[in-house]
Amino acid sequence: MMSILQLCYVIASVMFILGIRSLGSPETARRGMNLASFGMLIAIVGTLFNQQIVNYTWIIAGLVTGTLLSLPISLWIPMTKIPQRIALSHAGGALAACLIGIAEYYRYHASLGSASMGIVAVEVMLGALTFTGSLMVAGKLHGILPGHPITYKGQNIVNISLFIIMIAMLVYISLNPEMNTVFYILLSLSFLFGLFLVTPIGAADMPVVIAIFNSYGGLTGAVMGFMLANRIQIITGALDGASGFILSILMCKAMNRSITNVLFGAFGRMEETEAKAKRTSDTKEPQPISFEDALQFFEQAKTVIIAPGYGMAASQAHHALREFADKLKANGISIKYAIHPVAGRMPGHMNVLLAEANVPYTDLFDMDEINPEFPHADIVLVVGANDVTNPAARTVKSSPIYGMPILDVDKAKKVIVLKRSLSPGFSGVENDLYYKDNTWMLFGDAKDSLSKLAYGFKRAWGA
Ligand code: TAP
Repeated sequence: MMSILQLCYVIASVMFILGIRSLGSPETARRGMNLASFGMLIAIVGTLFNQQIVNYTWIIAGLVTGTLLSLPISLWIPMTKIPQRIALSHAGGALAACLIGIAEYYRYHASLGSASMGIVAVEVMLGALTFTGSLMVAGKLHGILPGHPITYKGQNIVNISLFIIMIAMLVYISLNPEMNTVFYILLSLSFLFGLFLVTPIGAADMPVVIAIFNSYGGLTGAVMGFMLANRIQIITGALDGASGFILSILMCKAMNRSITNVLFGAFGRMEETEAKAKRTSDTKEPQPISFEDALQFFEQAKTVIIAPGYGMAASQAHHALREFADKLKANGISIKYAIHPVAGRMPGHMNVLLAEANVPYTDLFDMDEINPEFPHADIVLVVGANDVTNPAARTVKSSPIYGMPILDVDKAKKVIVLKRSLSPGFSGVENDLYYKDNTWMLFGDAKDSLSKLAYGFKRAWGA
């Protein structure tokens, strides 16, 4: 008969799967998170009733330490720093799995069979490289470590050779579990490999690396589940590993990156050599616009598409944006939000912010859906978006962002850009959009500009 523990694991697994499924739409995402969290609670409580547990002291110590560490991080970390916070979580999870592997080896190494030893070695290897790699990602994103790619001659040969040596040691230790020295050298090389893997990658590509490490972390957990004969661990690890991998592929597509290069840590070099790419035309100057003139444009418009980007998140302009958009709507103007898959600094960044500001989900349109509509839009209001609107991605072969799918905002009748200066975005590439005849720059902090626009609109239209 199924024990209570097994029943808890089955219920938790179903809740994880339903939770992930619900994350597929902004409407059900909150429910998905709650489902998955509740599933995790059931799995933890079920495990605590496991009769094999002989001493609760260490478990309680771990629970208290984990809670004390994570609570302040969750409460105080700003939205803009979430990517590095996720990287730190991956580092913690991977270190935990790695330490469990080391403990298992320490206790049983002489008696481990080849298959079990192989599992322990894979777990320790993946855990160690994910730990150091994720720490490095967090450091690069937070600016503690240099964000630019660090490369040297023969780097790929060094990385590939190191990887081959590690695989050879993994096979050797699986066949000879009693060889302690080989195990600990493999462990040390894995820590080192995590650092080597991330060194040549620039900060701009870190989100993809985070997703890859998420996947590695999941795989480590699944492998640990096999070792501990723990089904829930296998299921959660497999879900985590697979979803992280799928996310990496989707992000690579949206950022025009090669997944092979990401997997083998060899990309990022391109930014180093070409990041300073200039705009294609040096003759034109951008056209600044005043609030009064911008309001006149809106007064004449019937359809407006809003393209938000990282600047909206940085200035926390989402509430002011919704207020302004509501005023336009109240005056019969059609409003749509164009969502680029990698606008901002994390997947779904814009969706989360706009949902927080109570923008209806039905007003949000994915890039593929909205792109054909830009030529019919009277105005596109670009709110702190830059790279994801750069037309050079379509035409300038030498540009580092060439081939990245973008929002075709330049095809609209008029484009009004809200940003503070002409500074480039995350990729470091200047944006041709700002020099086009149909583009006007409304310089300033996005939140301030939107509040002023809403105020001016109210005065002029009484809306
Ligand atoms: P970016 O190209 O990074 O541009 C953001 C713009 O926001 C900047 O040019 C900046 O210009 C402006 N800005 C900053 N603070 C502002 C404020 N307070 N008010 C108004 N504007 C402000 O953003 P994007 O278009 O969203 O593109 C995202 C980029 O990040 C892509 O290159 C993408 O590949 C990369 N990336 C994406 C992710 C994910 S998964 N979403 C993660 C990491 C990196 P000023 O300084 O002139 O104001």
